[in-house]
Amino acid sequence: MDSIIIEGGVPLSGKVKISGAKNSCLALMASAILTEEPINLNNVPKLSDITTMSSLLASLGLEVQNNKDNRSLCLKARDISNHRAHYNIVRKMRASFLVLGPLLAREGFAKVSLPGGCAIGARAVDLHLDALRRLGARLKLENGYVIASATGGLVGTEIDFPIKSVGATENAIMAATLAKGRTIIRNAAREPEIGDLIDCLQKMGAEIKGRGSATIEIEGKNRLNGSTHEVIYDRIEFGTYLLAAVITKGKVSLSGGKEILNREFLNKIGEMGVTYKSTSEGFMVDATSTDLQPIKVTTEPYPGFPTDLQAQMMATLTLVKGESEINEKIFENRFMHVPELSRMGAKIKLDGTCAMVEGVDQLVGAPVMATDLRASVALVIAGLAAQGETRINRVYHLDRGYEYIENKLAQCGAQIKRVQA
Ligand code: EPZ
Repeated sequence: MDSIIIEGGVPLSGKVKISGAKNSCLALMASAILTEEPINLNNVPKLSDITTMSSLLASLGLEVQNNKDNRSLCLKARDISNHRAHYNIVRKMRASFLVLGPLLAREGFAKVSLPGGCAIGARAVDLHLDALRRLGARLKLENGYVIASATGGLVGTEIDFPIKSVGATENAIMAATLAKGRTIIRNAAREPEIGDLIDCLQKMGAEIKGRGSATIEIEGKNRLNGSTHEVIYDRIEFGTYLLAAVITKGKVSLSGGKEILNREFLNKIGEMGVTYKSTSEGFMVDATSTDLQPIKVTTEPYPGFPTDLQAQMMATLTLVKGESEINEKIFENRFMHVPELSRMGAKIKLDGTCAMVEGVDQLVGAPVMATDLRASVALVIAGLAAQGETRINRVYHLDRGYEYIENKLAQCGAQIKRVQA
């Protein structure tokens, strides 16, 4: 298992190119199951999660071709030769569960392993299953698998989600595109990645109204066509590198970012006293002479502050004088980064889903352990600002969601390298 070693204290300065969005690309890849024609995806990020999803789709019988140095994918589901998504793949990557809705809609049968929990929480799938039942699927749970069938096909219906769920909304939308009749989904999640999925489905011939709102209306079709689609940029990667610039009091230009997808995050950055502006190159953040202010953050479904930037924001706030407060309202256990940050000298008190962060003068480098994707990158951010050497083990977590992170940071002056453990 590789490790990353950082010699902290260097203000970042330079340009970072933001990659395609992991969480959009994974859903787009699953949508290829809905048609026997080719789906061409561009601006695909080079991440291990994308490789895992490609392997899963290939195991179902899809043709998967990487083109143009892995930044484009051609997926063709001419025949589905296998209807089972194996536990060994699904347990590694929860997003594998997104093949359930498309398989059921296209084939009328699917056997998908339950994803199980992960470091940040139980990660239930009851909302996915309830939505598919509403669409007429018969489901049973056997030996850790969901066995779903819909002989005669799915039927349009009304789905009222009790809470917003990104994955359940995506599974329901994809399934409904091939259902007979109209489906209305209420309290749908509104993340930009869902908008990107809807854009691609519409290019495939799906009839979908309400993009970007919490009420989505879908008129089912008998079949969908192939299409070509460019994956939107990764707003979480964008926020991560912006915070790396802030914590090191650097000045970085982020190409590919769009303000509109990070509104609440940028509001909080502004509250901290950081100046930023859109430029022709993308987005410039200058924290060289910022006297950072403490803030209060609560994670919420989009357009609220994203839970996927909570750990990175916390790492940054450990060096902001005064007391900041972070409330994690999406996942029940998303503070795994706290003990590791504390080992670097951070002062953080936890009370349930609330973390009080008391700013310290400096962090001190230490060997730390990555536990999940965003906790890992929070430790990288802390290491960039800490005095001395930080060694982050188990960086396979990082490779799931951050393309060439050490290269992108080194290009901005960071003293960072990857070593074989
Ligand atoms: C997606 O996960 C993202 N993953 C997550 O990003 C992100 O943190 C999350 O949305 C919230 O924005 C992908 O898109 C691949 P949810 P998802 O269903 O769909 C509960 C990252 O770091 N819930 O919106 O699994 C759930 O436990 C990852 O890139 C149920 O109770 O999240 C959570 O508390 C981490 N029952 C809340 O809803 C269900 O059936 C929101 O989860 C489904 C979810």
